[in-house]
Order: sequence, then structure tokens, then C-alpha cells
Amino acid sequence: MTRTPQPARREAVSRPGKPLQGYVNTPGDKSVSHRALILGALAQGQTRITGLLESDDVLATLHAVSRLGARVERQGGGQYVVQGTGGRFRPATDTLDFGNSGTGVRLMMGAIAGAGGQALLVGDDSLSSRPMGRVTIPLEQMGAQCRATEARLPVEIQPAPLTGIDYRLPVASAQVKSAILLAALGASGETIVREDRATRDHTETMLRLFGSDISVEADGEGRIIRLNGPQILTGCQIDVPGDPSSAAFAAVAALITPGADVTLKQVMTNPSRTGLYRVLERMGASIAVTPAGEAAGESIGNFGLRYSALNAIDLEPDIAPSLIDEYPVLAVACAFARGTSRLRGLAELRAKESDRLAATHALLAANGVEAYIEGDDLVIEGGTVRGGGSVRSLGDHRIAMSALVMGLAAREAVTVDDISMIATSYPAFIDDMTALGAMIRVHP
Ligand code: S3P
Repeated sequence: MTRTPQPARREAVSRPGKPLQGYVNTPGDKSVSHRALILGALAQGQTRITGLLESDDVLATLHAVSRLGARVERQGGGQYVVQGTGGRFRPATDTLDFGNSGTGVRLMMGAIAGAGGQALLVGDDSLSSRPMGRVTIPLEQMGAQCRATEARLPVEIQPAPLTGIDYRLPVASAQVKSAILLAALGASGETIVREDRATRDHTETMLRLFGSDISVEADGEGRIIRLNGPQILTGCQIDVPGDPSSAAFAAVAALITPGADVTLKQVMTNPSRTGLYRVLERMGASIAVTPAGEAAGESIGNFGLRYSALNAIDLEPDIAPSLIDEYPVLAVACAFARGTSRLRGLAELRAKESDRLAATHALLAANGVEAYIEGDDLVIEGGTVRGGGSVRSLGDHRIAMSALVMGLAAREAVTVDDISMIATSYPAFIDDMTALGAMIRVHP
């Protein structure tokens, strides 16, 4: 088998109803959940995890680390104990299937290469069309043996000794940075990763929690990260904070539905992830953040959001890494804002779960929003939104959720042809939104 079987399709329709009210217990962060399992599997000893996001993407990583020799035991909802391998993975006898998950497969390529593992990695149709050369190229420079056709999945990794490299990221990608750092744990000598623009830093933060000696230095808009290998991690406790990318859907829904008053609890406030909220505030959003402590080395807060009259924005490209997954739902917010918005420098969206730039444009156009793509920019004429469109989610969870959010405030209902893949990142999305009063109907 080289591709994941696709789940049964389900259509959904969202329409305006009563104002959204209440609170959401934000689901665990996807990025932190993947990393907790992977570092736990690489470490010596036990790692206890609470609040793990039990979504399809994260469960694919969980199954992969189990096949590579980590023992993972579920002790209750989101509670796990991982018995690590001490930095040596055994060869995987079965294919490792990462489903839809770019984070899972890319981080695991680095972890497997560094831990002397041997495996064949596959994914679903969407993941099989996404670029993997951005990870295999630096890993091969370190000495890894990766086999792929045209830099796409399936990728086969064979054990090989690694040495550190000095590498400047050609794309602003936390997945690539993380894959190199995970491989560096098993490489001899110093690895240096240079990023021109700072990307999410959960790997660096969590490596420290696992006892790693890693240095991070600011370098203009970016960072220089150094790690001396080999290093063996020590198991620890990880309480996964709430996911700001998942919270984004209820947040935008609250801002665009008149009378809404919603609290999003325990959201991670790491600035490398909260660009959307800063941008929405610049557009006139009412967002009150109450600090709520720390989890897994990350700060968290409760977010209070009320309906707000939004103004259009001309958004600079440099901010992209801090809201890279939030552009579809930001585009929905822009459709309801007064004036013409321009979201600049979105080339990287073409390499996500779908061509997310084209899919976001199509979602707007299907619902009567005037929008166009100019080079790598998305231009959106805001105002009232007609809705009434049928949106193709194209296997992309964030397109499906963004379209459903749009339907809550459009004049006519919005239909999404398939929402089954929302389970890759936010299995409780429909339940959480309907608990706030959202009118979303799902057809089997
Ligand atoms: C992620 C990094 C981002 C993001 C993805 C999760 C991570 O991808 O889009 O959903 O956990 O490292 P890139 O780093 O490739 O932009």
C-alpha cells in the first residue's frame, strides 16, 4: 500500500442563526502534540502527556512512533504515557502511513534519519502531492539515505551515519527546521539552522524541556539555531496548550456574527502563532486576552471576542509565518470587513493541504465575494456577503472550516461538499461550534 484510503465523504451546510454565545475548551495544539509524541519516542525514559490532540494527523504520528519501538499507552482522554527508545528506532516492518499530515511525515523523516531507523513513509492523495525535497535535501546533506521519486511520497529512509550541517532554510518552514534539528540529535558535530524569518519555535522550546542543549540567537527578522550532536533526551511531562489555529475559526465566527460574545479558553499565546489575532485587532476586532499561565513551556491565555465592525487591511508578507495556517479564515474576515483588503506574499499557501491560495479564492468567489489573485497576493472586496455557494473543500480541513464560518454570517447558507477531513486537526469542530449556537447541519 502506498496511499491512505480516503474516509467517507460528508456534506455540511451552515447558515446564520442566533448570536454565538458561550465558551470553547480549545483543543490541544496540533504542532505541540506531534512534537510531544516524537520527542517522547526519541527520549530515554517516560514522557507523560496530557491534553494531546486526538485528531487523525496526531494519531498517525502516534502509530508511527509505536512501530519504531516507542511504547505508547493511553490512560484517558488526551492522556498518554510514552516509553522512549533512548534515541534508537528499530526498523519499521510495516509502512508508516501519515494520512494527511505534513507535520507528521516531515518531522518524522528527520527523527527517523537521526535515530538510525528504517522505514517507508506514505500518505493520502493530498500529502502525496506535497513537496518533500525541502526535507530530504538537507537530510541527505547530513548523510541520510532517503529514496523518493520526484521528491514526493513515498519516501524510504535507510540507516546511515549523520554529521551536522550549516543550513539556511530556503523557505520559511518550521517543519523543515524541525526535521533538521531532530536529525541533528543523532548526528555527530554541530548543526546550525539559519532562518531569515522566525517560524514557530515549539521544537526548540520542547527540546529544552527534554534536557537538550540548544542555542537560539536572534538574527534580524530571523534566528540562528545551534545544536551539538549526538544528544540523548530525557523524558518529561508535557501538558499540551490549546491550539490558536483551531481557535481561529470560532474567533472569526464571533467577530462577524452580530451580537456574538465568545470566550476561547486556554489558547497558546506564543507570538510565532498568534499573528491572526494581532491582524484582527488592527482591523478593529475586540479581543480581550486574560493570561492563564503556562503549559509545556508556552504561555497561554483566555480570549474574549465580541462582534466587531472590521476594516480592510493591507497585510505585509513578513508576518506570514505567524499566521500561515490562518489565511483562509482571515480571508473570510476580510470578506465581511469594510473596504478592499490585500493579503501579500502567499506563495507558500500553494504547498499546503490543497493549493490553499486557489482554494481560498474559490471559496470567496462561490459566495459572491469579489476577489482576485494578483501574483502571490489575494485581494478581497469586503462588505456584506451573499453566500449561497457550494464550496469544494479539496481535502483541506482549513478550507472546510473557513467556509462553514462564512455561512454563519452570510445572507444565504453555505454548503461544503465534504467535511470528513476536519477530523485531521479538529474532530470536535462541529460540536464546539453548535454548542456556541452555530447553525451547522451535517449530512452523512
Ligand atoms: C507546522 C508548520 C507549518 C504549518 C503546519 C504545522 C509545524 O508548516 O503550516 O500546519 O507544526 O511545524 P510549514 O512550517 O511548512 O510552513
